[in-house]
Amino acid sequence: MAESMQGLKRTHRCGELSAANAGEKVTIMGWVQKNRNKGGLVFVDVRDRSGIIQVVCEEGKTDAALIEKAAGLRSEYVVAIVGEVAMRSGAVNDKIATGEIEVIPSELRILSEALTPPFPIEENSKTKEEVRLKYRYLDLRRADLQRNLMMKSQVMTLTRQFFSEEGFLEVETPVLGKSTPEGARDYLVPSRVHPGSFYGLPQSPQLYKQLLMCSGFDRYIQIARCFRDEDLRADRQPEFTQIDLEMSFLDEEQIQTIQEGFLQRVFQEVLGVEVQTPFQRMPWREAMDRFGSDKPDLRFGMTFNDLSEEARGKGFGVFDSAEYIGAICAEGCAGYTRKQLDALTEFVKRPQIGAKGLVYVRCEADGSYRSSVDKFYGQEDLARWAARCGAKPGDLLLILSGPKKSTLSALGELRLEMGERLGLRPHDRFAPLWVVDFPLLEWDDETQRYYAMHHPFTSPKSEDLALMDTDPGRVRANAYDFVVNGVEVGGGSIRIFDSELQQKMFRVLGFSAEEAEKQFGFLTNAFKYGAPPHGGIAFGFDRWCALFGGADSIRDYIAFPKNNSGRDMMIDSPSEISDEQLKELAIAVKK
Ligand code: AMO
Repeated sequence: MAESMQGLKRTHRCGELSAANAGEKVTIMGWVQKNRNKGGLVFVDVRDRSGIIQVVCEEGKTDAALIEKAAGLRSEYVVAIVGEVAMRSGAVNDKIATGEIEVIPSELRILSEALTPPFPIEENSKTKEEVRLKYRYLDLRRADLQRNLMMKSQVMTLTRQFFSEEGFLEVETPVLGKSTPEGARDYLVPSRVHPGSFYGLPQSPQLYKQLLMCSGFDRYIQIARCFRDEDLRADRQPEFTQIDLEMSFLDEEQIQTIQEGFLQRVFQEVLGVEVQTPFQRMPWREAMDRFGSDKPDLRFGMTFNDLSEEARGKGFGVFDSAEYIGAICAEGCAGYTRKQLDALTEFVKRPQIGAKGLVYVRCEADGSYRSSVDKFYGQEDLARWAARCGAKPGDLLLILSGPKKSTLSALGELRLEMGERLGLRPHDRFAPLWVVDFPLLEWDDETQRYYAMHHPFTSPKSEDLALMDTDPGRVRANAYDFVVNGVEVGGGSIRIFDSELQQKMFRVLGFSAEEAEKQFGFLTNAFKYGAPPHGGIAFGFDRWCALFGGADSIRDYIAFPKNNSGRDMMIDSPSEISDEQLKELAIAVKK
């Protein structure tokens, strides 16, 4: 029978108690983690979000009826306990923060009984994620998930504090917005009042925040929910949160400096990690050429070396016909076995990586070289490659070749894999970086048109403006990404604020004047009424927290995430709706 908590007032959270409370009378409330009955001695571990405290009922010291009640407790019962804090008579438990003390109860109330949970409520659960997501309210009781969400809350508080001190205003923007043709697929919401018309859920508040600049708010922040109907991965959710910012009258450098102050403070206050500012800046082209990625992991080197010149023309057909030949040097790996090299070859041949094969050169301790292409290249050739890669005896060169773009990207994946294998990517080291000077546009062979690399509102670099008409693919953007440890944590740009330039951009993207007017007329019009120069950035809040916590999946930092196929397993969504509802919305579903 559940009892009332009437007349009781919680005095402490379990984990807040310490030796300093010894002798005090306290009231705690929480969940039974476990109880152990040692005949006349009953131990009950009580848990709340702050931690665990041991309650000890002992014959002679505790009332017999209370001991019996304590012995009958089961895991996840919710209890209230009044008692006295005492130093432990038995062994100190240094695994928990309250390990020196225990509570000797004088009153125990059962506030709620509990069924046996479908999985144990404990850290580092081995239970399948599908089951955990179905019972997410139980999963969220686990200490690791509680820590994650507490950290997220701390970052959120700090964010509001920091930007408020910097004069930013928090402004909300609509969730029922308009579907736009650029970017990922939109989530749509049918309108009952306007049959056949749909709202689009925002992929980000991009246009609203720019309009707020046009309205004169000059520094905007929103912790904004965004929705994107795209293929899901460990670091992508269909709905996620951005720390979204926009600023007027500041240039790229000034915007980055404000963000650096913010990021530095979060690193320091949340992780106790000092990061030096200004952060390193790397042009996009350099990131691609040296790391094969627009989000390089700078915790380790192993940068690319271009062997295209040296390696062609020796009769090895694969290299002779390759647009690009690139190598990385894995320090101390010359001893890799056949099996290890085969595993790496398999790795690069995976469809998502797409290399055709892998060439290696072992730099032997005696100064000689052994490679998988010895038939075509002599010792002097291999020595030249090794010199170009800065390799020493004992190192291993790994070489990929093919079309430049895809080979750089495959070599980038191989570099990360080697970094992982060699333990060069520790979760507790952070290498922040701005990637800058992105191309404005990206050509898509399939649709035979340009797409905006960032979004269509990003401004071209003024020195590249003339190329907009002659060679748009070469125009660089005033865009920047904030990258940490190979993760794109945030991205932003200086925006176009001139109506004509914005229209030109739409033209380059293949919009007719009518289409551009229909889709984005409100923006180009707004620019005609006096628009300030402006720019901004958005940080992926969930992704950033996961990175801080060293987690692979952002689901561990979202209270109620969707699974990999976009389903909420707990509330069973998305779900069918009734014929009545469909009729009201004037929608017919084709099954
Ligand atoms: P962008 O599209 O680069 O820029 O998004 C900004 C940041 O949001 C995070 N992010 C995601 N996180 C989780 N799940 C997703 N599906 C997802 N997609 C993106 C990333 C990314 O860096 N409006 C612009 C910003 C601007 O220009 O100011 C924008 O949304 O961490």
